Amino acid sequence: MRTTVKIKLIVSSAFLALSLSSGAADIEAGKAKAAMCASCHGAAGISAMDIWPSLAGQKTGYLAKQLKAFRDGSRSDPVMNAQAKGLSDADIDNLSAFYNSLK
Ligand code: HEC
Repeated sequence: MRTTVKIKLIVSSAFLALSLSSGAADIEAGKAKAAMCASCHGAAGISAMDIWPSLAGQKTGYLAKQLKAFRDGSRSDPVMNAQAKGLSDADIDNLSAFYNSLK
């Protein structure tokens, strides 16, 4: 009985570790995706225009939250609503990790 519980625990924690690592953001993929953002936010995440925010070094969780809000329309901006429309959750995680990695 005890052994069964132990095995169950080991198996479920192994699955947890697996799902956590497979869900990890990919900075390189984010960098590739960010080519479509660079015209406004800059290749290094520093914007050249007063009305375009710089994203370099911004917190990952904040960036992901804003991109999801632009995607579902709860944050409204005609430019960014259109930009975020086609992004998957994985794209958003990767882009957020990429911009966070820039200093
Ligand atoms: C045509 C110019 C343009 C492009 C291209 C563009 N953005 Fe933006 N982005 C903006 C503007 C303008 C804002 C500010 C919107 C506002 O005032 O709410 C913004 C805001 C943001 C914000 C919120 C920043 C903050 O501090 O709250 C994020 C995150 C963001 N953009 C990410 C991206 C990503 C990722 C891409 C590429 C998929 C992208 N943007 C493409 C113009 C652009």
